[in-house]
Amino acid sequence: MNIRKLHDLDVSKKKVIVRMDLDVDNDFSRIELSKDTLDYLLNSNSKVIIIGHKGRPEGRINEELSLQRLVFVLEKLLGRSVFFIRDIFGAGQEKLETMQDGDVVLLENIRFDRREEENDLEFARHLASLAQCYVNEAFAVSHRAHASIIGIPNFLPSAAGFRFEKEVEMLLRVLENPNRPIVAVISGVKRDKMDYISHLVNHVDRILAGGLLPKYYGDENPYPDKLIIGSLTLDNEDINSDTIEIFKAEIAKAGTIVLAGVPGKYEDEDHRQGTKEVFTAIANSHAYKVAGGGDAEAAITLLNLNDKFDWISVGGGAMLEYLSLKTLPGIEALVQK
Ligand code: 3PG
Repeated sequence: MNIRKLHDLDVSKKKVIVRMDLDVDNDFSRIELSKDTLDYLLNSNSKVIIIGHKGRPEGRINEELSLQRLVFVLEKLLGRSVFFIRDIFGAGQEKLETMQDGDVVLLENIRFDRREEENDLEFARHLASLAQCYVNEAFAVSHRAHASIIGIPNFLPSAAGFRFEKEVEMLLRVLENPNRPIVAVISGVKRDKMDYISHLVNHVDRILAGGLLPKYYGDENPYPDKLIIGSLTLDNEDINSDTIEIFKAEIAKAGTIVLAGVPGKYEDEDHRQGTKEVFTAIANSHAYKVAGGGDAEAAITLLNLNDKFDWISVGGGAMLEYLSLKTLPGIEALVQK
């Protein structure tokens, strides 16, 4: 995949729009992962305009989803002031026009404007007109064909940020010459995981389904030779002990493991057994192992297994879509043509 890289972009003293993963609650590690990209731009005397979203405000202003509270996080991370702009179509425009080298501004939640999710061309053109270059450092939202992901690169020289580039490199190892068998452990509460499974089944050797997926599949297994649907405890809050053993036996044979979602309600100690045993088995395997998604990452951190994984992706849906379809809208927008 020949995506344009940040080192190939002339950013010196330029205004650069950086699309970041800012969809965070109280854990700011996702933001910290972009430090190298932001430092590189600031060391190049760029003027940095950060854009991002939080939640799903559906095109309406929602103070609870404002990005203003991230100003202090970015200021601490970068060691300089960050100017917040609430309205890029109003007074904010002036500030953007008078930015100096090394200035950093943060724009309000881009999803407060419905044109972001509609990938409105004029909206993308306006955002692009604020800068001279574009950097995508938002891998976790690059499965969305939104204006800030695929619209702006139509109008500006564009590149992947360092973290984005590394995400693609590390996940590509699952797709190119992987050690087999590839075992995907997919759980969680979101039904859309079933769509990803319908694609993944073509690339992987085994899929182990936990969380609420066994409930969604019911008695039907659409891929009996590849998909093992776990059984749940009576209260549906965890996979049962037989399933834990079956999953562990498959994990022990794996050459590559993809982990997304959590098998049970791991936050409660009473329902943590499945997550604990399955995650520990994965962590101790010699397979190449990647994990993604907020819940999986939080459980890995809780169990203190972070160092055992080859890669922990910032993306949940984005990671699964990339592994399912071997590309993403946000990647296509950066491919050298
Ligand atoms: C994420 O956190 O997974 C991304 O921000 C994507 O958010 P979305 O599912 O609301 O598009």
